[in-house]
Amino acid sequence: MAHRWKNDLTRDDVTPRALWLNRRQLIAGVGAGAALSLTRQARAQDLTPNSLEQISSYNNYYEFGVDKGDPARNAGGLVTSPWTIRVDGMVDRPGDYALADLLSGLATEERIYRFRCVEAWSAVIPWNGVELADVLNKVGVGSGARYVAFETTVQPDVMPGVRSRVIPFPYVEGLRLDEAMHPLTLLATGVWGQPMPNQNGAPIRLVVPWKYGFKSIKSIVRITLTDRQPPTTWNRLNSREYGFYSNVNPEVDHPRWSQASERQIGGGLFARRQPTLMFNGYGDQVAHLYDGMDLRENY
Ligand code: MTE
Repeated sequence: MAHRWKNDLTRDDVTPRALWLNRRQLIAGVGAGAALSLTRQARAQDLTPNSLEQISSYNNYYEFGVDKGDPARNAGGLVTSPWTIRVDGMVDRPGDYALADLLSGLATEERIYRFRCVEAWSAVIPWNGVELADVLNKVGVGSGARYVAFETTVQPDVMPGVRSRVIPFPYVEGLRLDEAMHPLTLLATGVWGQPMPNQNGAPIRLVVPWKYGFKSIKSIVRITLTDRQPPTTWNRLNSREYGFYSNVNPEVDHPRWSQASERQIGGGLFARRQPTLMFNGYGDQVAHLYDGMDLRENY
């Protein structure tokens, strides 16, 4: 079928060629080898990746509690296999897809991305996953679709935060279709060549590196193509503090956290604050998506 969306960017525009590992190299190199080559790649980009231990011990996943250590402590009981994702709405091939079927035949990528939480901490994370665009093309974006909505699993018996209703669940998020189809946007299934830790959103979570971390919805069980801007959890809770777009923007402060600078996790209490970059440093790749939009109004 004909798609209205065409990526102008090639993979080489997004990340230097040296950053790409094909699936065979990835499988062969899992462990020390992969870690080493990723470190080398990150140096080329002047980024210091956080360790798996750091990435998986300081988390936001409110279904498992609100403290940063709660997800690591409590998420062990989440059963992530088998896993089914409902794909519905304005889509050519809707259905309940086994995760493996949904991803079969798609290229697995390994990408080191900056991650910026609205709480003014950041991380550098080597993700493994597939481009969301590849998944959407596989199921067929229906004509008229303009947004993509996502939903997290709700399992009260293994999710203490759901039982105590810390925020309304299911956690929901959304992207405009062109954001979803952008080659930087990933559905991640692992970090550092390892399967995704439960606390980071196993078995599959969204990663949108130019937006604040809360857009990166975890443990996805539903993807819906729609013509209406979908509700998002934090926007629903407090629309003054959290907009639909939530692009990283050092000039638009959150009422409780300055967005001008950030501290990378793992550096200890005295880690140097670094200036936050517009679109988290991905402006060359994504600024055109927002041409003509007032980013103070559309925060
Ligand atoms: N997804 C779900 N389902 N529930 C959550 O509470 N928290 C978000 C996002 N995705 C959250 C979620 C927030 S606020 C952040 S900063 C990131 O997950 C944290 O991702 P990380 O734990 O992998 O660093």
